[in-house]
Amino acid sequence: NLPAAVTIWEVGARDGLQNEQETVPVEVKIEFLRRLADAGLGVLEATSFVHPKWVPQLADATDLLDRLERAPGVRYPVLVPNERGFDRALEAGVAEIAIFASATESFSRRNLNRGLDEQFAMFDPVVRRAVDEGLSVRGYLSMCFGDPWEGPVPAEQVVAVGARLLEMGCDQLSLGDTIGVATPGQVEVLLGGFTAAGIGVDRLAVHFHDTYGQALANTYAALRLGVSTIDSSAGGLGGCPYAKSATGNLATEDLVWMLDGLGIRHGVDLAALVDTSVWMAGQLGRPSPSGVVRALGGA
Ligand code: HMG
Ligand code: MG
Repeated sequence: NLPAAVTIWEVGARDGLQNEQETVPVEVKIEFLRRLADAGLGVLEATSFVHPKWVPQLADATDLLDRLERAPGVRYPVLVPNERGFDRALEAGVAEIAIFASATESFSRRNLNRGLDEQFAMFDPVVRRAVDEGLSVRGYLSMCFGDPWEGPVPAEQVVAVGARLLEMGCDQLSLGDTIGVATPGQVEVLLGGFTAAGIGVDRLAVHFHDTYGQALANTYAALRLGVSTIDSSAGGLGGCPYAKSATGNLATEDLVWMLDGLGIRHGVDLAALVDTSVWMAGQLGRPSPSGVVRALGGA
C-alpha cells in the first residue's frame, strides 16, 4: 500500500541551519537554496520569522528573502510563531507559512515561552489572518513520540493537540519526532490514532530526526500507511536548539535512495543533491552524517 509519488518537504535551510554554532552567511544560504531547487526539490522551507534572539542563526530571514531569487514552481514556506512574525513574513512576500506547536507542556514552555493551551492563543490570530490572506498554513506538532523532560508521549495526547491545529485552519499537520526516539511500531500506533479520529493520512506529513538511526525505518512505516509528504534535510543537517538531544533530520539523500529502491517518484536528482550536501559540508567544516552522501559523495 505504498504511494506512487511523494512530496519531499526539504527543511535543510531552516531546521538544518537553525542549530549551527557558527553563523552561516546569507550568501551561503541563498546558494544552498538555489542548489536544492536545481536538484529538483519542490518545497524548500527557507527560514523562520522567530525572535532573532531565540534563534540567531535565522535572524537574517528578511534579508534572505529579499535577496533570494525564487525558482519557478518551487514553494518556499517559512516558520511563523506569532503575529509579529507573521507581519514580518507578509512584508517579505511569503505565500506559505508554518506554525509550530508542541504536543507537550514542557516543550511548549521551552520553545515558545508559553504553556500548551497558551500556544493556541498565540497561533489563532496568525492562522486566521493567513487564511484571510489566502496563504496556506502547515501545522507542525513537536514531541509526538517522546519528550526529553516528560518521557514517552501518549498517542491520544498527540492526536488531541493535532486535531486542534487542523480545526484551527491548518491545511496539513507535520508530526515531529523532535528528538528522534520513535520506532516504527509507535509510528503505526500514532497514525492509527489519527485515522481512528477521522483524520486521514492525506492531511498528515511526517518529520523524523535521526538521533537513534530510526528515521528511515519510521518513514517506511508511514509510507506503508499511505503518508505521502515526508520532511527531510539535505545531508541530514538539523536539530532544535530548545530540545535537549535533538540531532539532524532524516537525510534527504537517504530518503531518496530508499524511494528509488521502492519505485516511488520524488522528482529529485540524487547526484546533484549529493553534490550540494558535499558542498554544504565544506561550508560548515564537517562531513555529512548521511550514509548515502558518504557512499556517493566520494568523501
Ligand atoms: P517571547 O519572549 O515570549 O515573546 O517569545 P513576546 O511575545 O513576549 O515578545 C517579546 C518581544 O519580542 C517583543 O518586543 C516582541 O515584539 C518581540 P518588545 O515589544 O519587548 O520590544 N518579538 C519578535 N520579534 C521578532 N520576530 C518575532 C517576535 N516575536 C516577538 N517573531 C517567541 C515568544 C515565540 C517569539 C519565542 O519563544 C520564539 O521566537 N521561539 C522560537 C523557537 C524556535 O524557533 N524553535 C525552533 C523551531 S521549532 C522546531 O525546530 C521543531 C520542528 O522542526 C518540528 C520537530 O522537529 O518537532 C518544527
Ligand atoms: Mg525538526
